[in-house]
Amino acid sequence: MPALYDGLILGSLATLDVAHGYGEIADGALGWRDGLLSFVGPRETLGGDPGQLAAEVIEADGWITPSLVDCHTHLVFAGDRAREFEQRLQGASYEDIARAGGGILSTVRAVRAASEADLLRESLPRARALLADGATTLEIKSGYGLDFDNERKILRVARAIGDALGIAVHTSYLAAHALPPEFAGNPDGYIDAVVEWLPRLHREGLVDAVDAFCEGIGFSPAQTRRVFEAARALGLPVKLHADQLSDLGGAALAAAFDGLSADHVEHTSDAGVRAMAEAGTVAVLLPGAFHVLRETKLPPLDAFRAHGVPMALATDCNPGTSPLQSLRQAMQLACTHFRLTPEDALRGATVHASRALGLQDRGVLRVGTRADFVHWRVRHPAELGYWLGGQLADGVYAAGRRLA
Ligand code: NIG
Ligand code: FE
Repeated sequence: MPALYDGLILGSLATLDVAHGYGEIADGALGWRDGLLSFVGPRETLGGDPGQLAAEVIEADGWITPSLVDCHTHLVFAGDRAREFEQRLQGASYEDIARAGGGILSTVRAVRAASEADLLRESLPRARALLADGATTLEIKSGYGLDFDNERKILRVARAIGDALGIAVHTSYLAAHALPPEFAGNPDGYIDAVVEWLPRLHREGLVDAVDAFCEGIGFSPAQTRRVFEAARALGLPVKLHADQLSDLGGAALAAAFDGLSADHVEHTSDAGVRAMAEAGTVAVLLPGAFHVLRETKLPPLDAFRAHGVPMALATDCNPGTSPLQSLRQAMQLACTHFRLTPEDALRGATVHASRALGLQDRGVLRVGTRADFVHWRVRHPAELGYWLGGQLADGVYAAGRRLA
């Protein structure tokens, strides 16, 4: 007789499948078949000897949580910006460096000079690091190409990372990230090009969502709106780098387009928060960028809570503002800087992050969802938002397959 489960893992579960708390099942069992969870409950209710029920049985001491979901990264890039980090420590601001042609544009130069194979070789270790620390779903943005061929190159590398590692990669088209030198003085002309490239890249299956950088050193709300309209015409969801350095009403703009998320949101106003609540737009907090830029303006955390806006967490892994290669580390930074509880941080990096990608099939441990889970070497799940560094993941699984 074939086994009931392809695999069973036995240990303490934090299912997160509850409104409050970790959804703890102290002596639990998780069973899966064909990549989906088919048993979640106390071990004693399994109804038989695990060895007879499953082809593979794992005895886990420690805790099992849903796999982490990193819903905002720019991890496909070439080079680094350590020199610029130094300049900032000597007093230059992020905006000063961007206006002088450094910042995002210096990474654009490095990406344009790299072959597709080079770009994959440089980027893959970052994705591997995120995976090793528990993330099996990654969002990856373009935005360092700023012309058709180079935006395409980044998105192709993002897909190749998913194939190489067996993880789920969701791509976002972020050509409206900075103004390339070819369009200096002509941002509206650049937006024309951004809008023209989108359907061509979408036809190649390279775009899952559309993003923009709405900021004084990025694009105006009117320009962002044009990009969003192009996304809507193709039925693509939008998200936005909103209100990171100043309040341009970005969060409300994302909400007006039923955005999946508004990200950064340090300067979002109360009206912006209310618009997000009404539209169901998730707030994606990026404590890595907050930390590295030594920001002091906190996102409106109390307002998000009061209006029931879900708060997701992501690494924002990028060479300029957040050279962060662990989502668990982002959880720790969110607890320290934003006073999230470790439980909020874990929800932010799982169930709310899934929602920020429009995904309902992961982020909790529930029968019928993907068998994406991590076995952590911890005594309590609060440790996941507590340790700085270290190696806590003992096994990282996606669709029931061990990837790390
Ligand atoms: O999310 N703010 C815009 N984009 C990135 C930074 C990109 C860069 O500096 O390379 C961010 O912080
Ligand atoms: Fe970002």
